[in-house]
Amino acid sequence: QEVHAAEMERTFIAIKPDGVQRGLIAEIISRFERKGFKLVAIKIVVPSKGFAQKHYHDLKERPFFNGLCDFLSSGPVVAMVWEGEGVIKYGRKLIGATDPQKSEPGTIRGDLAIVVGRNIIHGSDGPETAKDEIKLWFKPEELVSYSSNAEKWIY
Ligand code: PPS
Repeated sequence: QEVHAAEMERTFIAIKPDGVQRGLIAEIISRFERKGFKLVAIKIVVPSKGFAQKHYHDLKERPFFNGLCDFLSSGPVVAMVWEGEGVIKYGRKLIGATDPQKSEPGTIRGDLAIVVGRNIIHGSDGPETAKDEIKLWFKPEELVSYSSNAEKWIY
């Protein structure tokens, strides 16, 4: 069954400054790529503190909000949009529980992180946040729509 790119589900994934500094970019990308999800946008940026506050606006009442925003804006972040059936929910599964002490082995955080304030990766938690976060981090023209031969074997 053909699935049109325009209808495909998308999620926002960010490798946070700790993941970049620890040299985990390729490791993280490869987990999404090998699963069969498709990378449709990517860039590396150092977000300003104000931008980080926008990204985490839902959390502004939380005690860790300021530290979290300082952390996200402390260095380069790899911002990505991944596409594929079920990518929002399954992306979260690949990432693992928020607290790396609770994430299962085999997940990105379970295998590669130890503490919640340095959990190396962010993924949108639902369709609405995915839409908002993609819009915040990317201009529409930065998202690429393409099909490859391999796609026939994936879907
Ligand atoms: S909560 O508590 O349910 O709102 O947390 P959650 O939705 O799972 O996490 C929201 C983001 O806040 C980060 N977080 C923290 N950062 C620093 N310190 C503490 N204690 C902490 N608790 C949660 C968490 O990693 C989520 O950020 P992202 O970037 O989405 O992973």
